[in-house]
Amino acid sequence: MEVIVQPDAQAMCLLAAQFIVELVRRKPHCVLGLATGSTPIPLYNELIRQHCEAGLDFYGVTTFNLDEYYPIAPTHPQSYRRFMNERLFDHVNIRRERTHVPDGLASEVAAECANYEARIKEAGGLDLQVLGVGTNGHIGFNEPGASLCGPTHLAVLTERTIHNNARFFDGAEAVPKLALTMGIGTILASRHCVLLANGKHKRDAIALLVEGPLTAQCPASALQLHPRATVIVEEDAAGKLTRREYYDHVQQMLARPKEGWRNGVKR
Ligand code: F6R
Repeated sequence: MEVIVQPDAQAMCLLAAQFIVELVRRKPHCVLGLATGSTPIPLYNELIRQHCEAGLDFYGVTTFNLDEYYPIAPTHPQSYRRFMNERLFDHVNIRRERTHVPDGLASEVAAECANYEARIKEAGGLDLQVLGVGTNGHIGFNEPGASLCGPTHLAVLTERTIHNNARFFDGAEAVPKLALTMGIGTILASRHCVLLANGKHKRDAIALLVEGPLTAQCPASALQLHPRATVIVEEDAAGKLTRREYYDHVQQMLARPKEGWRNGVKR
């Protein structure tokens, strides 16, 4: 797992955007896994800027979102479909039929979940999955106790998640109690996972996911099993990492690998 600490949330999102920009340029038909929530908003703003000012071309790109509340209409102001349309898709030249968000109104939930998995496979699998993390360590809506290898499924939200997301709704009562979410197995099958977190309220989750034991009680810790997981955080979210010096050292060494190998140790 690579841990990169940035000075602030904007720098964190700009760095994450660089990974995506580089991927889209290198592989114009790439498949992106996307997240909603407040964390990646500056990332999407940067992708829009790159599209408008630097011609970043989304025409061939396919996207799959992590999750959607259930039940919820796609037109609901808090649906993740609407979030993605308003925060990204409406502003770039992506083909709408290539953007996928689980259907929050699916009548056959199991079929919708199986179909979502099938569509990801058909598209060639996820090249890069963007992730946020809940204060309880959830990724997607994989709450503590979720299977660490499961597929897309119907998840029951915890009280804590409902409470955290109540700020987007008219109070906790209005937050749907269920969601369709990629499973951790789906997420781990992605070729590159990029997890972002900012703010002091995320520091416990970040410490557990990076340095804690692999446990379903912190679903994000499953990223420890991923061959290419990049955790990008800003100073506040990094506040409880005990091996910070080492993570910075790794970044320095990777920035100048030849010199690093020659000298062997940090200067
Ligand atoms: C959103 C998602 C969630 C959020 C997490 C953090 O699609 O899957 O796991 O990433 O709840 O949310 P924010 O960014 O609002 O703190």
